[in-house]
Amino acid sequence: MSLNAFILGATGLCGSGFLKVAEKSASFAKITTLTRRELPTQHSAKVVSIVNKDSETWGTLIPDEVNVFFSGLATTRGQAGSQENFYKIDHDMNVDLAKAAKAKGCNTCVIVSSAGANENSRLFYFRVKGEIEKDIIALGFDKTIILRPGPLLGDRGQNDKGFLNAASAKIGSYFYRSRLQGLVGHPVYGDEVAKVGVKLATDLTTTKKVQIVESAEILRLAKEQ
Ligand SMILES: NC(=O)c1ccc[n+]([C@@H]2O[C@H](COP(=O)([O-])OP(=O)(O)OC[C@H]3O[C@@H](n4cnc5c(N)ncnc54)[C@H](OP(=O)(O)O)[C@@H]3O)[C@@H](O)[C@H]2O)c1
Repeated sequence: MSLNAFILGATGLCGSGFLKVAEKSASFAKITTLTRRELPTQHSAKVVSIVNKDSETWGTLIPDEVNVFFSGLATTRGQAGSQENFYKIDHDMNVDLAKAAKAKGCNTCVIVSSAGANENSRLFYFRVKGEIEKDIIALGFDKTIILRPGPLLGDRGQNDKGFLNAASAKIGSYFYRSRLQGLVGHPVYGDEVAKVGVKLATDLTTTKKVQIVESAEILRLAKEQ
């Protein structure tokens, strides 16, 4: 296989995981990242990094001949400043850029959503995640992989996500792969989420059009390889 990947959110926890895993994978010949700041680490020649601070223009920067679209692009309500801005970034950027990639012939979409995503939820965050899932599925990729992690674990470098996230990661790390992990939503490392996304994207044995992978299943599949 000689695939081209396009990654959004490559400076984030799951997005940098997609980059790491795809770079090591023989299935990918070329990986393009689109970020608003430089990637924090050096990469091999198969990685093309596009840095552009004006995300309004990103739809025009998607390269031709992309086969797999990966997204770990996301914000928090606090970082976005308002629910409206949160929706514009989390929902609109992901859906609009996936649509632009599909228009260029991309046939596989892998996005990181969240445990509890539900378009009918009373809670804004889970409702937005559910709407992203619904609108991505409606784009009709040949293969759509939706990853629904529980609390995310891993080194975030300079990307501080605030007190609540730090507390959730701290509690999650105590329960990670323990007998009681289900009580706190099956915490999982960003790198494990990425591993499973790349594995399913490059798995030719399944013809399922849409795969929604919950956190417990991500943990199981990540251990398998
Ligand atoms: N935190 C948790 O415990 C948890 C649990 C379940 C699900 N999730 C979900 O999992 C997904 C991945 O989360 P993560 O923790 O890997 O994310 P993350 O580390 O916060 O990374 C987010 C990425 O999105 C980029 N980004 C944010 N705002 C942007 C904007 N306005 N324009 C362009 N790029 C922007 C960031 O770029 P910069 O580096 O430039 O900021 C970064 O690359 C998210 O959908 C999140 O909601 C999180």
